[in-house]
Amino acid sequence: MSNVLTPPSYTLSQAPLALKPHGKVLAVTSGKGGVGKTFVSANLACALARRGHRVLVMDADFSLANLDVVLNLSPKITLHDVFTGKAKLEQAIIRTPGGFSVLLSGSGMVEYARLTHEVRDNFAHIIGGLVPHYDVVLLDTGAGISDVVLFAVSLASEVLVVATPEPTSLTDAYATIKVLVGQQKRQTVRTIINQTARVGDGRAITRQLQQVLDRFVVTESGQATRLVHMGDIPVDPSVRQAVMRRQLLMQMAPGCPAGLAIAQLAVKLEDTVIRLTV
Ligand SMILES: Nc1ncnc2c1ncn2[C@@H]1O[C@H](COP(=O)(O)OP(=O)(O)OP(=O)(O)O)[C@@H](O)[C@H]1O
Ligand SMILES: [Mg+2]
Repeated sequence: MSNVLTPPSYTLSQAPLALKPHGKVLAVTSGKGGVGKTFVSANLACALARRGHRVLVMDADFSLANLDVVLNLSPKITLHDVFTGKAKLEQAIIRTPGGFSVLLSGSGMVEYARLTHEVRDNFAHIIGGLVPHYDVVLLDTGAGISDVVLFAVSLASEVLVVATPEPTSLTDAYATIKVLVGQQKRQTVRTIINQTARVGDGRAITRQLQQVLDRFVVTESGQATRLVHMGDIPVDPSVRQAVMRRQLLMQMAPGCPAGLAIAQLAVKLEDTVIRLTV
């Protein structure tokens, strides 16, 4: 797979240990499930790749991974083989038609749903091995605040919380942000509001979340955690069509409203996060 990584000559054993957050590792997470994390991760990766970045998306939702389904890929070698020492990290990396790479967890990862020392070490080693080879590593995490999700997020320099305008999604997003502030001392959390009905809804929602945070969540430093609204993605029937066809929206219909929103999100990320860390 030498075309996937440049340079290709590294192995997991040589990978540096990733015990603290890395620049350019962005976690895509949410409080509630099914809000669009995988859709955003895959299509944002495609948009960033089109802008010239070397991007990899890692399936960090070990127990309920579905990035492979969305991308219509059935890898022979997965993260499971890397975790068990059967394959080298570079063998599990697949180049997608969207111009970015993926590291898929495959179906054998259910046993890694619990955060053991082994899972922590493997996970951290893998991220450490990826970082030198990509401009951006996106972690498509599971929903909620399980140990595995929080550990995955802890390895990222930036966290993107995806939420929809539904009250249940917002209360869960708030709960997640609260934990990220309390446990990980995050000063900045970035929000993406997906499936919005009207222009401006997402910004208003982020503002409301900020108000609740300011009232009820005190950081250790005494400074308020800042929510940064990264963008809205409108509800758009093309998204479901792309998922049903197992294609990337950015390939199938890049000019549809959700596609344009993802392209804007890529530009905003580039301006605010990526250029600062590469
Ligand atoms: N902007 C949108 N417009 C319309 N439908 C959308 C939009 N975003 C997501 N969806 C729908 O929501 C579904 C779930 O999205 P996705 O699988 O990305 O969520 P998820 O957060 O990764 O879920 P999980 O928590 O299970 O990993 C998609 O298959 C799609 O049908
Ligand atoms: Mg998902």
